Amino acid sequence: MIFRQLFDSVSGTYTYLLASRRGGEALIIDPVLEKVDRYIQLVDELDLKLVKAVDTHLHADHITGLGALRDRTQCVTVMGERSKVDVVSMRLSEGDKLTIEGVALDVLYTPGHTDDSYSFLMRDRVFTGDTLLIRGTGRTDFQNGDARAQYDSIFNKLLRLPDETMIFPAHDYKGETVSTVGEEKAFNPRLQVKSVDEYVELMNNLKLPNPKMMDVAVPANMRVGLAQAEIARRGWAMSATEVMGLNGAPDMILVDLRERAEREKHGVIAGSLHAPYTDLAANVRPGGMLNELARATGKRMIFYCAFGERSAMAVRAAQDAGLASARHIEGGIDAWKKAGGALVH
Ligand SMILES: [Fe+2]
Repeated sequence: MIFRQLFDSVSGTYTYLLASRRGGEALIIDPVLEKVDRYIQLVDELDLKLVKAVDTHLHADHITGLGALRDRTQCVTVMGERSKVDVVSMRLSEGDKLTIEGVALDVLYTPGHTDDSYSFLMRDRVFTGDTLLIRGTGRTDFQNGDARAQYDSIFNKLLRLPDETMIFPAHDYKGETVSTVGEEKAFNPRLQVKSVDEYVELMNNLKLPNPKMMDVAVPANMRVGLAQAEIARRGWAMSATEVMGLNGAPDMILVDLRERAEREKHGVIAGSLHAPYTDLAANVRPGGMLNELARATGKRMIFYCAFGERSAMAVRAAQDAGLASARHIEGGIDAWKKAGGALVH
């Protein structure tokens, strides 16, 4: 297991890099824009392949590294389904699993600090974002924060984990690096309350100044989506309605880039081929499965995913590999559903 806790001293943010082995796939949690060079260097030094970048919530105190990491490594960006971010490649909800090769994290919806706060549980440790901090809790006075919801997230979800579960938060301002559920239950001053009302009273009277970066960070973090317009300008995009109009024409192959769990949860477009995004590079290069299929059949390949990000990156890779007829469905399954497209389970 590879586990690294990285620190941005400007915003006091902890970023976590996880992988099951050297040479394997890696996942990064809460990356900071200014540190992206360092993350990429470390990923290279450890011989890892960054496949997912995740934010626990929409941050107000720093600009996320999600967009920059996606643009430089073609990784998948991930946030919770409640996030107001414009576009990420994948959205998760309570009960889903966040997976890479050899690592599976349980997704917990833990609102309160913001209404889009999620925690990720990996066996002996939990990444709590700003929901539960070391000897503190995340403020609840902006971004639809709600002290009552936070009490519920902390007391009824996080503190119900085994006492020895390690807590890795998104921030610390005093140099603490890790705690445990048992330790926080006993020593976190904010948690020594007798009722939810007492907690709400405490949180509503903190009188904290707004984060310095807030006016810059929040709007920036809401626009991390890949510029799909550039793909459309090149003529590589099709709208969901256009593809529906083709009505399964024999000269096209629909390629679903999503993961198995996403297909099972949301359904698939009938007759499509499953070729997960993780294997894309190998599949589109000469000799790869999709490349061979396109050349052997002369059919045009139409990629799709959840929101159009992975498919936009796929169509670019396919074009680079010489598959000039490759297209993608702009906006993905989300757009397909909104346009009234049928899905099969
Ligand atoms: Fe936060």
